Amino acid sequence: MKIPKRLQPLVEDGLIDEVISRLMSGKEADVFVVRANGETRCAKVYKDAMKRSFKKAAQYQEGRQIANSRRARAIAKGSKFGREQQEEIWQNAEVDALYQLAAAGVRVPKPYGCYDGVLLMELVQSDDGDIAPRLDDVILTEEQALEDHALMIHYVKLMLCTGIIHGDLSEFNILVDDYGPVIIDLPQAVNAAANNSAFAMLKRDVDNLANYYGQYAPMLKNTAYAEEMWALYEAGELTPDTELSGAHQTAATNADVDSVLAEIQAVLAEEEARQARLKAAEEGED
Ligand SMILES: Nc1ncnc2c1ncn2[C@@H]1O[C@H](COP(=O)(O)OP(=O)(O)OP(=O)(O)O)[C@@H](O)[C@H]1O
Ligand SMILES: [Mg+2]
Repeated sequence: MKIPKRLQPLVEDGLIDEVISRLMSGKEADVFVVRANGETRCAKVYKDAMKRSFKKAAQYQEGRQIANSRRARAIAKGSKFGREQQEEIWQNAEVDALYQLAAAGVRVPKPYGCYDGVLLMELVQSDDGDIAPRLDDVILTEEQALEDHALMIHYVKLMLCTGIIHGDLSEFNILVDDYGPVIIDLPQAVNAAANNSAFAMLKRDVDNLANYYGQYAPMLKNTAYAEEMWALYEAGELTPDTELSGAHQTAATNADVDSVLAEIQAVLAEEEARQARLKAAEEGED
């Protein structure tokens, strides 16, 4: 296709070889399929701040570190330079979160950097090369819903262990490929330790998961993972290996904890096996 204006500099710099198609025009960004480095990848072009509609941006950004004091002053003053700096921070937040989460073992698209407001990342696709659907477009069995929910809760826990809350997690920001759920869309990622709304955002993310997967597996609707995780996190006791039960004092008493727990253990074992396979495959490539 004709090269979109915003992708032109990346083409000129050799970061993108070819623009194949426009995948999606979202509220915050336009997403393209591109060729780069011999692979089909995804390019997310952020819209200008003015055109963006993301609610309560200030609430999300609370607690983000601005190390450079000149930057911080410019942002506080709201000058043009300040707005540009703010924009850069917003755009880099997603690529930073992707690197951190990938390192923590959360399935996210593999990032390839962010240049001029364009995030380059892995295109999530099936082994046959079909672009992965959003969770919202997938029909699940009860068993699959339990398994995927447990894995997503595991990912949310790993994220919280690294101090990150997604902040907009829902069936629209989870893709599903042949190996399970992949988390996307993180520019609003929240600093768990420094944001006063952190728990509220975590709870909303976790509730969205319970409600969505709960359509297929109703017992999930009575779980209270957010409260449980947050209490451990605040006490400094949450670790990647923490086994969560889904039960919490404030939770309804009829949660089917045993079966959910058994399911989590099965998923964790499977995830470990998957990581081991990935590692073996990577070592094989080297
Ligand atoms: N790495 C990827 N691989 C495959 N598809 C992707 C990838 N990233 C984004 N998409 C597709 O592009 C859509 C928009 O991406 P994303 O959610 O990151 O941007 P957005 O502008 O915030 O969108 P929205 O406002 O719809 O949430 C996704 O719903 C998904 O269908
Ligand atoms: Mg989205």
